[in-house]
Amino acid sequence: MAGIKVRDLAYGRIRSPDLDAQEAFLTAFGMARAARTDKALYMRGTDPAHHIHVTEKGDPGFIGFAWAVADEADLKAVAKLPGASGIETIDEPGGGKRVRLTEPNGYTIEIVHGIESLAPIHVARQAINSGAAPLNRAGEVIRFPVGPSTVKRIGHAVMGSPKNQETVRWFRETLGLICSDDVYAGEKDNLIGQFSRIDAGDDYVDHHAFFCMKNARAGLNHFSFEVQDIDDVFMGHEYLNGTGKYDHMWGIGRHLLGSQVYDYWADPWGRIHEHWADTDRLNARNGGNLVSAEEGLRSQWGTRPPEKFIGHISP
Ligand SMILES: [Fe+2]
Repeated sequence: MAGIKVRDLAYGRIRSPDLDAQEAFLTAFGMARAARTDKALYMRGTDPAHHIHVTEKGDPGFIGFAWAVADEADLKAVAKLPGASGIETIDEPGGGKRVRLTEPNGYTIEIVHGIESLAPIHVARQAINSGAAPLNRAGEVIRFPVGPSTVKRIGHAVMGSPKNQETVRWFRETLGLICSDDVYAGEKDNLIGQFSRIDAGDDYVDHHAFFCMKNARAGLNHFSFEVQDIDDVFMGHEYLNGTGKYDHMWGIGRHLLGSQVYDYWADPWGRIHEHWADTDRLNARNGGNLVSAEEGLRSQWGTRPPEKFIGHISP
């Protein structure tokens, strides 16, 4: 085994026949264009990552996703894995180097390093009053701009797979991900969904960077992006709803596992993109749990997921 530990999810990669329509959706969803070529669209959030979403021009499809490593030595280690591409110079805006791997369902997992950073985009935010802190904004009225959410960063990728346990084992062993919550149905060894987070030692990371659930078909369930705060989830919902152009898939609610306030939207080819704010943040000492589906796959508030969301796969 390579023994590396990835440092962050970097970007998702899909294919669409119309980059104008893809950019219109992602702009309404709250990303900004980082670069566009004849062949592909690169979108960013407000954090410095050059891009967090890549769309290649072509028939609609899920290509895979990329993980950043902290050290170029990690690229050398994964390049030795069976089926690995070897270290490549990325011939795309932002540059950098990568190794391409193939996960058990045939999708491409890129391990990347040295991609250019951009200046962060500043988002002005006013303080929020709460019961415990009633004077956070004393003497000042709050006013939000009307418009899309402002996506900050990519948070996680979710896949479905008929071989979900093998898939999760591959991701954990190859990328150094660790268990946050393994979810079972019926017998305790019948795992139907597994939440994995990055192992950054004592540093705190999102509850999950990768979730894989059992499905008859393999593919993408959704890509997920952190927005500025809970208001931003609601503001983005109002905006996307107001366009009348896009399918709302689920939300708004607050998950149990991960605790995010979530809202899910489909792009023009049915690929689901999630907005969220306020996830649980854990470190390596938090360990992992085995939980039942009834206990774990519910919301703390909000409606139950519709069938069109639960079974959704974009191959
Ligand atoms: Fe999600």
